[in-house]
Amino acid sequence: LRGDQVIVVSNREPYIHDRTPTGITVRRPASGLVTAVEPVMRACSGTWIAHGGGTADRENVDAQDRVAVPPGHPDYQLRRIWLTEEEERGYYYGFANEGLWPLCHVAHVRPVFRESDWLQYQAVNQRFADAVVQEARGEDPVVLVQDYHFALLPAMIRARLPRATILTFWHIPWPNPESFSICPWRREILQGMLGSTILGFHTRFHCKNFMETVDRLLEARIEPEHATITYGGAESLIESYPISIEWPTPQTVASWAPVPQCREAVLQRLQLPPQTRLGVGVDRFDYTKGILERFHAVERLLEKYPEWRGRFVFVQVAAPTRSDLEEYQSFQDRIQRVTQRINRRFGQPGYEPVMLLATHHEHEAVNELFRASDFCAVTSLHDGMNLVCKEFVAARDDERGVLILSRFAGAARELREALIVNPYHVEETADAMHRALLMPEPEQRERMASLRTTVQEHNVYRWAGLMLADAGRLRLRDRIQA
Ligand code: G6P
Repeated sequence: LRGDQVIVVSNREPYIHDRTPTGITVRRPASGLVTAVEPVMRACSGTWIAHGGGTADRENVDAQDRVAVPPGHPDYQLRRIWLTEEEERGYYYGFANEGLWPLCHVAHVRPVFRESDWLQYQAVNQRFADAVVQEARGEDPVVLVQDYHFALLPAMIRARLPRATILTFWHIPWPNPESFSICPWRREILQGMLGSTILGFHTRFHCKNFMETVDRLLEARIEPEHATITYGGAESLIESYPISIEWPTPQTVASWAPVPQCREAVLQRLQLPPQTRLGVGVDRFDYTKGILERFHAVERLLEKYPEWRGRFVFVQVAAPTRSDLEEYQSFQDRIQRVTQRINRRFGQPGYEPVMLLATHHEHEAVNELFRASDFCAVTSLHDGMNLVCKEFVAARDDERGVLILSRFAGAARELREALIVNPYHVEETADAMHRALLMPEPEQRERMASLRTTVQEHNVYRWAGLMLADAGRLRLRDRIQA
């Protein structure tokens, strides 16, 4: 693909300019998608089109709504799209996050589909298609469409740039055909996605669900042995590409404080006694992450193994997210109440077993917390991949610390040396926490070393590399055939 133009489209932007009392700040959002795609974009330059959602975003673009990023040492262009309140409500909060998000996660929150949201979703997809056409320099750019906000975009781009190579990556799970059929616009969604040259999911299982859904709902030719779907005369490759993180460079690792110092700093900051054992969870404050089930497991741990009372603290970082939605507000309230209840039950003067830090934490602070902890619990009820577990592994160059991982996260298929749990089984998760706290160092080392090799080898450049290599192969084939 050397020399080809690469355009990324996602809803969330990689750099957000905000106005604060002390001036303008630039923030990195809490988004697995952004964490993964940003380093790839830095490596291949190009243009990233995204919703400009920051309060000072408009002051920080040129006349074409573009800003060069990363700030200070720019590698690529960020093109911001402005959405009206109505568009954001219908397309982002409504159709994407009240409809498609619960639909695809099967997390026992009922999807809501409103006609008015669907209209905005279509309109906003069209606006991003316009932006792609505007940004395209030739007739065959490589366009990387990211996630469930843009199911209709591939076919819209295809209609106007028939020779474009469109790689769509779906960062969340794909449900089985019965679940997906709830969506009133199921056929339109599938038709939109099949405008892609390549359609990527994290796991084979999600690819299989997608192919079965198409088989059920559209008149398409499906060839499972080639992993292709032909619809409306065009062929799409349906492949799994497990996403990952950028493995920290030796210079980055050298800049980290040693683990004992991290422990000391974290315990001091949280005002905990020096010998306290720590468990940690880091998530967006989202109902798919299994935070409630995790807290129930902490409660059961303290009930079943009283020796941990007063000696063990679970720290949960929960980054505020989608708080305009009622479902998120009531979930967040519920978690606050459960935290208070557990702390009343097992707390003592000067000791609260569950600490809920419901604010945004920068990467450095999270890294320090990872390094300070005895274990990290990732208990998603359903998750496309989950990158928190991979970041925990990357943070532990001391090869210590235990990962507890939900079997319903895509990552569980790769990270086999974690303690794999069913988050709905509270007893099992509580026992895994107990086991993690007692795990002998040689076993920790053995597991962590192996996890680290896996994540280091299967890093985000490999994810992008595999997808782009497939794209290169298909482009070559098309040029030869043309
Ligand atoms: C998930 C989605 C991303 C999204 C992120 C954060 O990882 O797959 O597309 O950016 O959540 O959510 P938000 O709604 O804040 O962008």
